[in-house]
Amino acid sequence: MELDDKVCYCFHVSMRKLVNFTRQTKPVKASQLSECFGAGTGCGWCVPFLKRIHENVTEEKGDVESTFGMTAGEYARRRKVFRGEGDDGSGEGKGNEKDSEKKQ
Ligand code: FES
Repeated sequence: MELDDKVCYCFHVSMRKLVNFTRQTKPVKASQLSECFGAGTGCGWCVPFLKRIHENVTEEKGDVESTFGMTAGEYARRRKVFRGEGDDGSGEGKGNEKDSEKKQ
């Protein structure tokens, strides 16, 4: 993950925005990152990552990007799986919207 990659897809909040917000406002709790354009208040997928950003920045661990341990593409793919929208690689999954539409 890079600084300009999106962390909260629901509200289009990048890692850079979250890191800068955390540095500037010094929130006591990770949940306060929701004050940064609503991050984490949608589907909930990004909440564990908001906690990582908060911990990393407040404890000055450096290199926030590496705390995610995955590429932006992998992050996006896992979110889709989390939301039941994507392929988890098992060959199973929803993806039958057309079938369900036909049944109605
Ligand atoms: S991706 Fe952040 S709340 Fe959905």
